[in-house]
Amino acid sequence: MHTPSSPAGAAGCPIDHQALSPPRSPTGCPVSQQAAQFDPFDDAYQQDPPEYLRWARQQEPVFYSPKLGYWVVSRYDDIKAVFRDNITFSPSIALEKITPTGDEANAVLASYNYAMNRTLVNEDEPAHMARRRVLMEPFTPEALKHHEPLVRRLAREYVDRFIDDGRADLVDQMLWEVPLTIALHFLGVPEEDMDLLRKYSIAHTVNTWGRPRPEEQVAVAHAVGNFWQLAGQILEKMRRDPSGPGWMKYGIRMQADYPDVVTDSYLHSMMMAGIVAAHETTANATANAVKLLLQHPGAWHELCQDPSLIPNAVEECLRHNGSVAAWRRLATKAARIGEVDIPAGAKLLIVMSSANHDERHFTDADMVDIRRDNASDHLTFGYGAHQCMGKNLARMELQIFLEELTKRLPHMRLAEQRFSYVPNTSFRGPEHLWVEWDPQANPERQDPALLQATSPVRIGETSHHVLGRTVRVESVTMVAQDIARLRLAALDGRAMPRWTPGSHIDIECGAPELSRQYSLCGDPADGNALEIAVLRDPESRGGSRWVHANVRPGDLLTIRGPRNHFRFDESAGKVIFIAGGIGITPILVMARRARELGMDYVLHYAGRSRATMAFVNELAALHGKRLHLYCKDEGARLDLPALLDVPQPNTQVYACGPVRMLEALQQACARWPEDALRIEHFHASTSALDPAKEHAFEVELKDSGLTLTVAPEQTLLTALRAANIDVQSDCCEGLCGSCEVRVLSGAVDHRDVVLTRAEREANNKMMACCSRAVGGRIVLEL
Ligand code: FES
Repeated sequence: MHTPSSPAGAAGCPIDHQALSPPRSPTGCPVSQQAAQFDPFDDAYQQDPPEYLRWARQQEPVFYSPKLGYWVVSRYDDIKAVFRDNITFSPSIALEKITPTGDEANAVLASYNYAMNRTLVNEDEPAHMARRRVLMEPFTPEALKHHEPLVRRLAREYVDRFIDDGRADLVDQMLWEVPLTIALHFLGVPEEDMDLLRKYSIAHTVNTWGRPRPEEQVAVAHAVGNFWQLAGQILEKMRRDPSGPGWMKYGIRMQADYPDVVTDSYLHSMMMAGIVAAHETTANATANAVKLLLQHPGAWHELCQDPSLIPNAVEECLRHNGSVAAWRRLATKAARIGEVDIPAGAKLLIVMSSANHDERHFTDADMVDIRRDNASDHLTFGYGAHQCMGKNLARMELQIFLEELTKRLPHMRLAEQRFSYVPNTSFRGPEHLWVEWDPQANPERQDPALLQATSPVRIGETSHHVLGRTVRVESVTMVAQDIARLRLAALDGRAMPRWTPGSHIDIECGAPELSRQYSLCGDPADGNALEIAVLRDPESRGGSRWVHANVRPGDLLTIRGPRNHFRFDESAGKVIFIAGGIGITPILVMARRARELGMDYVLHYAGRSRATMAFVNELAALHGKRLHLYCKDEGARLDLPALLDVPQPNTQVYACGPVRMLEALQQACARWPEDALRIEHFHASTSALDPAKEHAFEVELKDSGLTLTVAPEQTLLTALRAANIDVQSDCCEGLCGSCEVRVLSGAVDHRDVVLTRAEREANNKMMACCSRAVGGRIVLEL
């Protein structure tokens, strides 16, 4: 804790105390000028919360806001840590009125017997997890599947209503009513007066997260009171016959078995909160997504061309412009967030929309990148035990709405307008979204059959496999015997994605299921094209033969990536590069980079003969004496045991080449320090799961408060997804590292090729797609 006399730069506080005058935080710390001005009801916050908090992420990531009386948290890691510890940071104030209302409004609420109490979002442990476990089943991806036909039908019908008009307010004419209808269907609530429920929902938002003026407070209180009573009436009606589908009916049925867990007070509060939560956030999220994409026509156009990009685009829209901007927590004891001490009893505003633009976690965070490979790391749904249970229903709706709109209105554009938002801290979406188009150009007028086309919805699955990109083959050049260099450019002449030494791309070799990885061998600074070199290998599994036989200049190819599983550590003291045959491709780029940086390095390159070794002249010209060539037909042999006999301090070995060479290298480096050897793998060393040889194990998810069983025929990744836990994946073969999860206890049977020996021995992470528990139980930080 700080005192006013703490010197500038004292541990725990970045503020120069002498330079500032009051106001002060509850810890006595002076409040900076920007912190003093922070006001989440400002139009600037409403229009763009992450931009409004850019200064905080950069300079003062945790600060006290005197205007709000809250501590504001703005960075990704800090907010995730707050979500992770829901004992220190209690959710109990999540539904408290952020602006206390006056006596008159309070009296109005009391006249309706308004008694909003604990729901799932503001319940402390242990009650919360007990309830969440009992009520979670209808939210699993499996259970959600049967809602898909209704979502598709409604999306279709609502677009039918305005498709010939040439102009629509998507919020008023589709994006409120469709999610509301789906929400009522999901809850099992009969379709009530939609306009009334919309009015009530907005009143609930303003009452809880807004700052209504004194003259508005009474009207808001009446609407909220009426909503409370209506929720009670619907509940009573349901109680008379709780059979049939719907989550609220499921809850009523569960009450019979768990009366202490699913209480009357909970059911009434949840009926009201659930109606809002289940549709308002989705309605806002879709409006935000459509607005964002139409403001980035390149991205919109790509989705119109290739709907398989929609699932990841949804994640990117939720990250960049999500509908849940901030959430609240109460510090139950003194705690430290980042570098700042927070007193017991402090109220926190954790701004997830700011975290989602944190450069420390998302590269080029302000850019809209529909292929971003960690887009689904966003915190819009929260994280851990309180993560939004309805996230996969929302994902399904968003995907289907975007599919319908991109398919039927690819020529849609934003109309001239100023966007307005309901002023509040947390729920954010434009009140209106006017779009226009030329109905004469509606594609279905020419091709009615396009209405039948649908794309698969991906719920509970964040896989990179879907992120294809079409490129044009600019040139094909033979650079050695049987080695072709391909230069690949964007179709529209735009810049290609950025990449770093060690990156690779996947190429679809004639069919989506025949995908092969090739290291990039061009210049990372060349934004116009990506280059790979492909060896025609008679032993190949079909990919390289296909490339050599079929790919010609001007052809179109589908690629994925670039991604990097073979990163080059530019801080290494010395580097030994070792390449065998076509393995020179990633090594070539790394060695060039080492030279640029003036690093101490040496490059050993082995092959059958000069004629079969690509880039020899280029390498010789660039690296001079640092290059050592070993051409087998000239009698030169790369003697790995001799080369690596004596471990060298502060030296890293980077290698790529045939499996036999890499195995010999691992043996030769056995006495080297841990992690000195870095190898590029393109083939998994483990085979497919054989249930007869596996055993089931339990996995406890510490952050989520769940315990799952991974059956012998299941991977850990599959079990996690079935329980609604988001984990990224890419290769699903233990090659890429994207499914890494943190291990808290329990021995791991590592089956990947990503982790080093030291990392395996540390036993604090594992690859969920392939690795398993040695014994009967592991505990994960998830
Ligand atoms: Fe690639 Fe698991 S998904 S290692």
